[in-house]
Amino acid sequence: MTDKNIGISTMAIHTGNMRDTQYHALTMPIYQSSTFYFDTCEEGGRKFAGQEDGFVYTRLGNPTTAVVEKKVAALEGAEAAAATASGIGAITSAIWSIASAGKQIIADKTLYGCTFSFLAHGISKYGVEVKFIDTSDIEQVKANLKENTCIVYLETPANPNLKIADLELIAKTVHAYNKDIKVICDNTFATPYTQQPLSLGCDVVVHSATKYINGHGDVIAGFVAGSAELISQVKLVGIKDMTGAVLGPQEAFYIMRGLKTFELRMQRHFENAKLVAEFLDKSDKVTKVYYPGLESHPNHNVAAKQMKRGFGAMMSFEVKGGKAAGMKFCNALKLCTIAVSLGDAETLVEHPASMTHSTYSAAELAEAGISEGLVRLSIGLENGEDIVADIKQALDQI
Ligand SMILES: Cc1ncc(COP(=O)(O)O)c(C=O)c1O
Repeated sequence: MTDKNIGISTMAIHTGNMRDTQYHALTMPIYQSSTFYFDTCEEGGRKFAGQEDGFVYTRLGNPTTAVVEKKVAALEGAEAAAATASGIGAITSAIWSIASAGKQIIADKTLYGCTFSFLAHGISKYGVEVKFIDTSDIEQVKANLKENTCIVYLETPANPNLKIADLELIAKTVHAYNKDIKVICDNTFATPYTQQPLSLGCDVVVHSATKYINGHGDVIAGFVAGSAELISQVKLVGIKDMTGAVLGPQEAFYIMRGLKTFELRMQRHFENAKLVAEFLDKSDKVTKVYYPGLESHPNHNVAAKQMKRGFGAMMSFEVKGGKAAGMKFCNALKLCTIAVSLGDAETLVEHPASMTHSTYSAAELAEAGISEGLVRLSIGLENGEDIVADIKQALDQI
């Protein structure tokens, strides 16, 4: 099923499903096989040459994984998607497929710590120039575009301070300069439930499916979505030859199961997050709340324009007393758990400067707008009032 007009849940449950004509299994089987046999050498040759459809080796494709790729492509409104072994596998496979020595990548300076690390210390070792800017300021985007720019890379909302950039404006500006530059958006925080970067003019979407797409905290996975041509390049160059970051069929199965409740989960995540953000905003123990749904967020209007169904379930905040008070708050929580990652059923709390963003130096953290005292919350699926009560009792202790 590929109808663009069907709803999110119908898409997540039905798109791409294969009919099991042998045993009539309703649920997609897990094809836990590394390789696929050929009846003849000629058949193998034709499949390797792409002259005949079919599977040859799981690093190149697998029936279970192919179904979940179709679901994520449909959710993102993409022609195709490639599943990867992690979010970082998706990001690096996409970037390695596009960039080459002598080219320039423009990247936002506020990114998930390991993405920042890959750009600042990984790919830059191989003759690719990386320029870090603030993409929420379109003048900085314009000023840094060059003849050799091949990628503009950003997250919105950005990890961990929920900075918002205007995807439509960025894509329009970049493509007016050079239509071949690929605008890549990490859509992990927003999810396709509320934001579809491709429909706003971006070329590529990347995901850590470890988070909301799987949603149950039991899988590491990623996706790249975009045009059929680009995804074929990501599969045949980025994943096959460069990163080898292949998603296993077992993980693909778990993601498919998680996607059956994707829309329901996202609705509950968002409802709970709104409750928590409004509570934090009113608390006299809290000095600043970073949540795009609050009117006090500097880019609330841009978020309202591009996040069609709500503002996500991620937020950060600073408490009176800075880092020490922030740590005390985290340690005093009883229901919410101190852990990195996000998008799980459980509400998670972490301290970016010492955990997810410890790949940044102190100066880089300051430059990226990530304060030492920042506390990040991933609001889960528990009853919203219980999450608020736990946060309140922990704030009362500082
Ligand atoms: C925004 C974002 N992108 C990418 C990643 C990397 O994903 P993974 O841990 O699945 O490799 C993360 C991980 O936290 C993330 O928060």
